[in-house]
Amino acid sequence: MLNQYFDQNKQKFLDELFELLRIPSISADPAYHNDIVEAANYIKNKLIAAGADKVELCETAGNPIVYGEKIIDPSLPTVLVYGHYDVQPAVPLDLWDTPPFEPTIRKTAVHPDGAIFARGACDDKGQVYMHVKAFETMMANNTLPCNVKFMIEGEEEVGSSNLGPFCIANKEKLKADVVLISDTSILANDTPSIDCGLRGLSYIEVEVTGPNRDLHSGVYGGAIANPINILAKMIASMHDENNHITIPGFYDKVVELSAQERAELNKAPFDLNEYKKDLNVAEVWGEAGYNVMERTGIRPTLDCNGIWGGYIGEGAKTVLPSKAFAKISMRLVPNQDSHSITELFKNHFESIAPKGVTVIVKPHHGGEPVVTPTDSHAYKAAEKAMEKTYGKKPIPTRGGGSIPIVALFERELGLKSVLMGFGLDSDALHSPNEHYGLFNYYKGIETIPYFFQYFAEK
Ligand code: BES
Ligand code: MN
Ligand code: MN
Repeated sequence: MLNQYFDQNKQKFLDELFELLRIPSISADPAYHNDIVEAANYIKNKLIAAGADKVELCETAGNPIVYGEKIIDPSLPTVLVYGHYDVQPAVPLDLWDTPPFEPTIRKTAVHPDGAIFARGACDDKGQVYMHVKAFETMMANNTLPCNVKFMIEGEEEVGSSNLGPFCIANKEKLKADVVLISDTSILANDTPSIDCGLRGLSYIEVEVTGPNRDLHSGVYGGAIANPINILAKMIASMHDENNHITIPGFYDKVVELSAQERAELNKAPFDLNEYKKDLNVAEVWGEAGYNVMERTGIRPTLDCNGIWGGYIGEGAKTVLPSKAFAKISMRLVPNQDSHSITELFKNHFESIAPKGVTVIVKPHHGGEPVVTPTDSHAYKAAEKAMEKTYGKKPIPTRGGGSIPIVALFERELGLKSVLMGFGLDSDALHSPNEHYGLFNYYKGIETIPYFFQYFAEK
């Protein structure tokens, strides 16, 4: 479907994405609320310009959801496109080679044609915008083959807590046949793949308190439990010598894959040396009995995301701190559920705390794991679309990240999702120097209309 409209508008498609990327729509920090609204309006206006109807910003208790639709014939199938316009905070800023909200193009080893460096370039503005431009192209060419609805939210990076209620309250409006999402990765630019599962998430903050005030570490040190020492030991104790997680009951509901399913998963090409070289690590780490792909795709994890307390200023201050803190996440797989796992964590963490400290366990947002079908009409449409534009059949894989709302789409709207992502895991999502390949951006715009075409051919 390579066509004149696409060719003539390639530069415009890029210029507009740059405009969107310049808006620092960080959902985690309320200081950026105006930017959130500006990004939402940007997408709203471009959907209108492309020819969508009923385009609006739907207010929620949090950030607005951009909605728009094109119903060409109610008897035809409907694709609900979901994505997010919010981005992760850009800190630490000094590790960016160019400012996070001033997009620039640079070549990299895996992106020899150039990549767009900016926060949100890949996750998820670049991928959302492919859908807006693919829609524009289909409208301009009069080739939109079925109905489409857009639901682009602004709170994915902070747990989508207002999208669930929105979906439940708008079941009729969101009626569709499938959800199409581009917010995941492919294996490599010459190895297309489609994620058929996402991990769930349980995220917890802990506070460990020792003495009632900071103490002189010489006067009291050795006689009073140091909450940082204790917290470090408690966290370390949550993996055993085989790197299994030691929380009682943690693995009880984990679905083990059959030998055949594991073999299937391991058909995806994976170069361990490249992987280590890219991250500059001498060895990988993880649960005994599983390889890297399995550890990130089908096994649950526990990771400390941040840990703080005591003195971290210039020079040395001798202090035995009163408090220590950590943020801990667990990635979950079918059929673990985030509420039970959070509860198991809480009970375990409280039970292993020695008497000299008190602990508080505060649960944050969570999300459930999902597996999406590979035998559905929609999956096959995505498979055919990618095969058409990449010249290779995409490999079904399991994504390690989480998009908590996908489980809710299934539970509340009765809709399965297709995770037709176009990024690369190495695109530095959530990290300094996030980027998105020009190849990937244009490939997405080119592939999406084929998805619509094949999906409409029932
Ligand atoms: N797009 C990512 C999830 C993702 C990335 C899935 C790559 C598969 C491959 C999404 O924006 C994200 O970052 N999700 C969060 C969860 C959320 C509750 C903050 C995550 O996975 O940490
Ligand atoms: Mn995302
Ligand atoms: Mn993200």
